[in-house]
Amino acid sequence: MPATCIKGTGYYVPENIVTNADLTRHMDTSDEWIRERTGIEERRYCTKHKESTSIMGTKAAEMALSNAGIRGDELDLIIFATLSPDYYFPGCGVLLQRQLGITNTGIGAIDIRNQCSGFVYGLSIADAYIRSGMYKNILLVGAETHSMGLDFSTEGRNVTVIFGDGAGAVVLSATDEENRGILATRIHADGSHAEELAMINPGSHGGVHSEDPAAYGYESSEYGKTFISPKMLAEGMIYPNMNGQFVFKNAVARFPEVIGEVLVASGLKKEDIDLLVCHQANLRISQFVQKRMGLRDDQVWNNIQKYGNTTAASIPIALAEAVAGGKVNKGDLVCLAAFGSGFTWGASLLRW
Ligand code: UT7
Repeated sequence: MPATCIKGTGYYVPENIVTNADLTRHMDTSDEWIRERTGIEERRYCTKHKESTSIMGTKAAEMALSNAGIRGDELDLIIFATLSPDYYFPGCGVLLQRQLGITNTGIGAIDIRNQCSGFVYGLSIADAYIRSGMYKNILLVGAETHSMGLDFSTEGRNVTVIFGDGAGAVVLSATDEENRGILATRIHADGSHAEELAMINPGSHGGVHSEDPAAYGYESSEYGKTFISPKMLAEGMIYPNMNGQFVFKNAVARFPEVIGEVLVASGLKKEDIDLLVCHQANLRISQFVQKRMGLRDDQVWNNIQKYGNTTAASIPIALAEAVAGGKVNKGDLVCLAAFGSGFTWGASLLRW
């Protein structure tokens, strides 16, 4: 049975840097608060009318393909993870195919959500296809344009200061090389906390998940359900909301738990990890996980200081940066771990 290796990595972040000081012009916050609570110093926002989730994803994919030495038309499958797609439908997968100039219609394009865990979920899908022998080369992209959907008033500050835009990509290929590739992946979900970190509107829920439909912005309409209502717009109900402390507490429990699972599944120990790349949710969460696991600074990679939380893009951006910086070498044991909205979480352990 072939194994799945990462053959090439790539990333793209917009040029437009937004500092904490820039945000203080829109909302009541401070550089000190943001650094202290999150470790974030700055983030990138897309350039208007020029960049989008699929466009950034395409740039990251081009770099990953070039580093893998693979042409777009050699791909068997595209998997695109995002919570901020260009269109409600179709998804970014087909836009990426078009923008990469792939005219081969024999290729599939899968769009997945899974928010902060989107990349790890995507890895598990790609790994299953490759190990089964069905596909040889898969492009996995995580990209986000958060800046289009944030509340820049003081009301939205706990969410808005965290997020940034960007894209990362990997080319996953079949390998027969001994002791190389993905050793184990585990994914999890707990839908009982779905609304603790969510963007509820616009949507087709029609208020059914709340005893008070109006609290979700639902207003009855003559035909069907209200997808987006004047009330949602007027009352700022179209932005993401987060129960920050609750998410934080769950994240610091789930990260070590799922990392432990892939280590056990592979018969390895935390001391064996050469590099842990956690989803960049909050530097304080990553530091907590590092401490809990007793890992040294040189065993972890963080870049949230520069880019903020880029959700599905954060792991592939961090991984591509670490690879470009010479931090990942052949034979290294790399662990990728994520937790986020859903709740969904997961980890993957791979031998580089
Ligand atoms: O990637 C997906 C997963 N997401 C996460 O893992 C995020 C997890 N949560 C967090 O990272 C943290 O909960 C936050 C960074 C979002 C918030 O930090 P916190 O320490 O949990 O703050 P808090 O929400 O408990 O708020 C504490 C205070 C409040 O003021 P009062 O009520 O004590 O007067 C907030 O209004 O801080 C206030 N606050 C802010 N003040 C200045 C909240 N956001 C800000 C802000 N600037 N941006």
